[in-house]
Amino acid sequence: MTLPASFIPPERTLMGPGPSDVPPRVLNALGRSTLGHLDPLFIDLMDETKSLLQYAFKTENPLTMPISAPGSAGMEACFVNLVEPGDKVVVCINGVFGRRMVENVTRCGGRAVVVENQWGTQTDLNAVEDTLKANPDSKILAFVHAETSTGVRNDAASLCHLAQQFNCLTIVDAVTSLGGIEVDVDGWGIDAIYSGSQKCLSCVPGLSPISFSERAVSVIQNRSHPVQSWFLDMNLIVGYWGQGGKRAYHHTAPVNSVYALHESLLMLKEEGLENAWQRHQTGHEKLRDGLAALGLEMAVDTGYRLPQLNVVVIPDGVDDGEVRGQLLRDFNLEIGAGLGALAGKVWRIGLMGYACKDRNIDHCLASLSKVLQ
Ligand SMILES: Cc1ncc(COP(=O)(O)O)c(C=O)c1O
Repeated sequence: MTLPASFIPPERTLMGPGPSDVPPRVLNALGRSTLGHLDPLFIDLMDETKSLLQYAFKTENPLTMPISAPGSAGMEACFVNLVEPGDKVVVCINGVFGRRMVENVTRCGGRAVVVENQWGTQTDLNAVEDTLKANPDSKILAFVHAETSTGVRNDAASLCHLAQQFNCLTIVDAVTSLGGIEVDVDGWGIDAIYSGSQKCLSCVPGLSPISFSERAVSVIQNRSHPVQSWFLDMNLIVGYWGQGGKRAYHHTAPVNSVYALHESLLMLKEEGLENAWQRHQTGHEKLRDGLAALGLEMAVDTGYRLPQLNVVVIPDGVDDGEVRGQLLRDFNLEIGAGLGALAGKVWRIGLMGYACKDRNIDHCLASLSKVLQ
């Protein structure tokens, strides 16, 4: 019997919508000896990871931690804990991930009121205000900060301000925004927020940092129905991830992945949040200029374009799959395809976290230039 060989992946450059390149320092952390998930040293590391996440989210919220699963689980954790049957939730949609929020609301037995915006444009604040006025019984306003499917940044500060005027809680998707552009949980008054480890945090996929405000925690503690998901019930998870005191087994944490997240957050703190945001902006400008020199156009307006996710119009007559295939085969470079209505019409070039650097941008421009010739 022949056994399959060990899997040795090639060294790709990951410039799609995530996962993004993981620095050697984080990969080394991942490979360190596994500790027990209740080992006192691991508990110390959990506490330090929580405080590094508070730094990244700009919050003092005690309930700030990573969910042991990808961004979709962070999304679900926010909805299952805050939405009860019959609750009305206003959801802003301008891409794929807003639509998933509606799915979450419906599956929790909530009633979703949708503010639909054209893909590739920002959520319209007037439309949100009108919807909140027409639905004064709304409990939550939910929106995606950085829409990865379209490369659009929604105006999180103004949306949170509107929610507060109408006494609504907020649920914010920061999967692609955290670490790449400003996210200010306490300054904007966000009640529930989730992110992903694999984008601008430069960590391996599989963890979802989340944070809940004190107001959200009190809503969760005073629910009339139990949270429908046992695994994601924050009332139970705090027994393991909670502050101080005795930690009780809830599930086996992905110990090595937490080492990796800790290391990536340490790198973010060493660089400084503002410097990381600036690096993404500078990288975006360099890429944008290089693409323009190749005759390629950006699809999103400069006013609300994400620096970490560059959506580029595919020129007429160019075969999307052929170009991306050749970039991967011949240049070990991954860029992303368009999603949904934008499939075949755009490429999504990520400049996320560690992947946002001159060497990658030069490699991407040189490779694209050769392939397009
Ligand atoms: C904006 C946004 N929300 C949610 C998700 C889901 O995250 P994950 O794929 O880690 O489950 C993604 C993933 O790309 C995303 O970009």
